[in-house]
Amino acid sequence: MPSMYPPEKAAATSVLPYNSEVAASPSRFHPRSWNWKIWTGIAIAAVVVFVAAIVGGVLGARANAYPNYSKIDYKLQDTYAADDFFSKFTYFTGYDPTHGFVHYVDSPTAMAENLTLVSNTTSSTASTSLSTSGTAILRVDTSDTNATTGRRSVRITSKATYDTGLFIFDIVHSPYGCATWPALWLTDVSNWPQNGEIDVVEAVNAATSGNQVTLHTTKGCQIGKARKRKQTGTALTYDCYNGTDGNVGCGVQGPVDTFGAAYNALGGGVYALELRSAGIRVWSFARSAIPADIASQAPDPSTWGTALADFPNLECDIGSHFRNQTIVVNIDLCGDWAGQKSIFQQGGACSGTCSEWVASEAESFSEAYWEFGGFWVYGAA
Ligand SMILES: *[C@@H]1O[C@H](CO)[C@@H](O)[C@H](O)[C@H]1NC(C)=O
Ligand SMILES: *[C@@H]1O[C@H](CO)[C@@H](O)[C@H](O)[C@H]1NC(C)=O
Ligand SMILES: *[C@@H]1O[C@H](CO)[C@@H](O)[C@H](O)[C@H]1NC(C)=O
Ligand SMILES: *[C@@H]1O[C@H](CO)[C@@H](O)[C@H](O)[C@H]1NC(C)=O
Ligand SMILES: *[C@@H]1O[C@H](CO)[C@@H](O)[C@H](O)[C@H]1NC(C)=O
Repeated sequence: MPSMYPPEKAAATSVLPYNSEVAASPSRFHPRSWNWKIWTGIAIAAVVVFVAAIVGGVLGARANAYPNYSKIDYKLQDTYAADDFFSKFTYFTGYDPTHGFVHYVDSPTAMAENLTLVSNTTSSTASTSLSTSGTAILRVDTSDTNATTGRRSVRITSKATYDTGLFIFDIVHSPYGCATWPALWLTDVSNWPQNGEIDVVEAVNAATSGNQVTLHTTKGCQIGKARKRKQTGTALTYDCYNGTDGNVGCGVQGPVDTFGAAYNALGGGVYALELRSAGIRVWSFARSAIPADIASQAPDPSTWGTALADFPNLECDIGSHFRNQTIVVNIDLCGDWAGQKSIFQQGGACSGTCSEWVASEAESFSEAYWEFGGFWVYGAA
């Protein structure tokens, strides 16, 4: 904005000589004020056109501005894989903050009931994951046929926190099915929404419309409303502020095969999240299209092409809205999103109420499990 002031002043002073000349010229049939008015009108019109051109140019340049996502040399910082995977998380056991019909169990219970386990054999596609020594599985209970107070599930939070970084998530199987609300996300639960929330992978119920990437923040963070972004996904909403539209966040929808049955049929793949002051980007790579530099642990996002979701640092100060993030993985049941009647019954695959379904349809949760080849977190070298 300050750059608009000098040209405006220059234009205004150029009006004065015309005015004084006209004022000094002799008047014949028209009153002097008439000439003065015409000249002033012309001068004002010229100024308006001139200022409009400058403003247009400045706005045009602004609309085209885009952060410099220059190459960062990334160095492996943390590995979450195989037998060490679950020891790097704490198990959340409190009442679900998003009002699900769920009991989040502690680590010993989850291990005893196989709700969390490391497997070398469970999935037929496990051998195609980036990790060669077992996959980490998080499941919903399928044994309780009368879960009248809610069904057992897990929610885990990484012990490590991150301000920035490149996060590689190898997903072999994504959970889906009536009443499920799974998510792989980052936040600082003790400072929400001040330190932001990044939902990298999230869907509900039958999950037939693909993955949704969403940010949630305090006031003053909009993405893509008036400014450029580069992504293959479809923007849903622009305001990330948690007070807008019941905390719907600023979301981007991926294609159908980025989550659920269609995703699993392809052997899943890799989600990559880059969190840096220039912006937040999320890529989804099908199993068959994982960049070689990810497998070789030398990832360089500047070579990966357009992201699925792009949240550039243009209408939102990313550095101040996103800090101290933990990695969270959970499978909620019903709750604020999946449990809404109109959402639960959408498409006709799920009937009755969400909590009735959770209580009685134990066997329907057989596909409600996450299977991970591992997570790898890189920091700037
Ligand atoms: C858990 O899985 C193991 C095999 O990995 C099996 O021996 C055990 O019976 C299972 N426990 C339950 C409660 O399903
Ligand atoms: C999986 O295989 C690795 C070796 O490849 C071994 O160290 C680990 O104990 C195995 N885990 C299970 C749960 O069998
Ligand atoms: C389910 O549990 C409720 C109480 O929690 C009980 O009243 C009901 O009889 C049980 N139903 C079955 C089929 O066991
Ligand atoms: C960082 O996050 C952790 C976990 O939410 C929290 O306990 C801690 O207080 C946070 N630290 C700061 C400096 O915000
Ligand atoms: C948004 O966050 C504020 C805390 O900063 C909280 O008081 C409010 O209830 C939140 N609103 C929603 C809809 O989550």
